[in-house]
Amino acid sequence: MRYFLIGFMGSGKTYWASRWSEAFELPLIELDAAIEGRAGCSIAEIFAQKGEAHFRKMEAALLREYLKKDNYILSCGGGTPCFHRNMKCMNLKGVTIYLKSTPDELALRLAGEQNKRPLLKEVAKEKLPQVIATQLKRRESCYSKAIYHFDTRYITNENFERILRRHSL
Ligand code: S3P
Repeated sequence: MRYFLIGFMGSGKTYWASRWSEAFELPLIELDAAIEGRAGCSIAEIFAQKGEAHFRKMEAALLREYLKKDNYILSCGGGTPCFHRNMKCMNLKGVTIYLKSTPDELALRLAGEQNKRPLLKEVAKEKLPQVIATQLKRRESCYSKAIYHFDTRYITNENFERILRRHSL
C-alpha cells in the first residue's frame, strides 16, 4: 500500500514519515528531497531560478512516478495536495493522512526555518501566524479530503499502526 502524509509546512510530515517508516519497516520517500535530487539544487533555488509553476510541475511529475510504485510512506510538500489534481491521484492510489496543526503552533515551528521555505521567506516574524492562517484557510479544502486527520499534538505510533492494520494486506 502507499501512504501519503500531507499538511502545512512545519506540521511534522517528514518527522512522522521517518518515525513510522523506521518503526514499521516501510520504505520512506520525501518528495521535497526527491525533487532536489532530480533538480540538482535546493527547492529555494528552484523557486528563485525557475519560479513556483515550474516547481509544481516537477512535484506533480515526480509524484506520478512514485504512484506507479508501491509499498512506501511518502512525505509530501505542504502544497503538494493543492496542485495538478495531486490530492485526487493520491486518494485514488493510496491512503492519505492529514497532520493538522493550528496557525500558532505552525508559526512557532517555522519561525527559525523561513529561509528554507520560499513561500515564507519574506514574511516578517510577527506576521507569520496571520500569513499562515490565511494560507491554511485556502488549503484546508484540499487537506480535508484526506482519509485520516490527526491533530499533531496527540499523534503517536499507534495512530499509524491502526491504519496499517486496516489497509495492509
Ligand atoms: C511548500 C512546502 C515545502 C516545499 C515548498 C513549497 C508549500 O515543503 O514543498 O517550499 O507550498 O507549502 P514542506 O511542507 O516540507 O516545508
